[in-house]
Amino acid sequence: MKDFSEKAFPKNFLWGGALAASQCEGAALEDGKKWTTGDAMPYGVFGDIVIPPPDNYLKKEAIDFYHRYKEDVKLFAEMGFKMLRISISWARIFPNGDEEEPNEKGLQFYDNLIDELTKYGIEPMITLVHFEIPLHLALEYGGWTNRKMIGFYKHFVETIYTRYKDKVRYWLTFNEINVILDAPFNGAGIQAKPDEADKQVLYQAIHHQFVASGLATKIGHGINPDFKIGCMVANSPHYPLTPDPDDMLETMKRDRETLFFADVHARGNYPGYMKRYFRENNIQIEITEEDAELMKHTVDFISFSYYMSYCATADESKEKELGNVKSAVKNPYLESSDWGWQIDPKGLRYALNQFYDRYQLPLFIVENGLGAQDELVLDGAGGYTVNDDYRITYLKAHLQQAYEAIQDGVELLGYTSWGPIDVVSNSISEMKKRYGYIYVDKHNDGSGSLERYRKKSFYWYKEVISTNGASLFGSCL
Ligand code: BG6
Repeated sequence: MKDFSEKAFPKNFLWGGALAASQCEGAALEDGKKWTTGDAMPYGVFGDIVIPPPDNYLKKEAIDFYHRYKEDVKLFAEMGFKMLRISISWARIFPNGDEEEPNEKGLQFYDNLIDELTKYGIEPMITLVHFEIPLHLALEYGGWTNRKMIGFYKHFVETIYTRYKDKVRYWLTFNEINVILDAPFNGAGIQAKPDEADKQVLYQAIHHQFVASGLATKIGHGINPDFKIGCMVANSPHYPLTPDPDDMLETMKRDRETLFFADVHARGNYPGYMKRYFRENNIQIEITEEDAELMKHTVDFISFSYYMSYCATADESKEKELGNVKSAVKNPYLESSDWGWQIDPKGLRYALNQFYDRYQLPLFIVENGLGAQDELVLDGAGGYTVNDDYRITYLKAHLQQAYEAIQDGVELLGYTSWGPIDVVSNSISEMKKRYGYIYVDKHNDGSGSLERYRKKSFYWYKEVISTNGASLFGSCL
């Protein structure tokens, strides 16, 4: 074995992976669960909302994690995971969202999953809401446009906190809370196409989520003062397309569309630049005294997903391309994934520094990865594998930059890459776009045995974890 003592990540660094209930569990209507907004988006974020969803939509079965979690957790343990980020499907616990009594069968699934993780020493991190709410809450109440959502969310969150107060330490109140701006149904159960949502309605819904998030932080710390409660934003920093000062100002503006959400969570109130935006756009947010008090319950850490960076320009004639849910101008210096997401490892170092300089709070990379089309091939030993060197190259370069950010002084708690096992994509709702270290035999047309296979990256990540990151700078593989 090679000596990897030179460079290593901090002691107790939380290596692992991240999943979301609607994209992996399947069992869409099992054990009392009802439809969610995730089920009602069978064609992805930009496709039509379909209620009820068509017969064979992919998330209905997804990768059947609901029934196969033991096998999957065992594989994560084999890779040496320290943490698995999961989300709780609200509709398994409160199928309509507005009931008093929780659904015991839904809770039992998460009891079993958390116990299984604990058995292998894998710490769970729980995202309370990851892009789905019970469909009933969207149809009957208008999703997060309605202030009543804060009460329903409180009841859900209290139920979960109380149940797992001695088993779970790390919590995220909402996944990629800023995505609501570009995907209102995905982010908040608001039935509007991305560009068609009324800004007044949208920002009031965002306000309700801020209050709910502050409330969740407050009651969580009350239930267990050791809870670490964080916010989560989709972080894709912008670079100015040119040194033109107008491009720089546009860059600041675009970045603030993300920073706004972290600012509120870290500082407990609305930043001046947003108050100006509201004034100039005739947006009046209803903020009660109680709201303002609850928002003061700021987060313990800030987490984010990082997949790509964007460019910004004040020149409106420049063509924009779709990236992770939102569109921006292309960076001529970067290559893109098959789905047009620009690959920029150094942007991760920049993003970590930008956030740490701004907040001086611990950070957590809770999603990162390369969505790619994989080919299952014979492994030469009678089995099958995927030779995903492209994925290794992507992940390695990003982790090296995370290491650089740590050297810059950033306090980074951990890294959970997205979809450690292939799952249904969120943006396009397909299986073709895979992120995993573990290949799942399931295809866009719904066919496949659901068998799991270790990809080349499985062994690579295992080595990264076992050397606490040192192998990134000189691997045996
Ligand atoms: C994030 C989401 O936006 O990116 C995940 O939190 C999502 O739910 C991931 O799956 C990757 O995006 P996609 O669209 O490639 O699945």
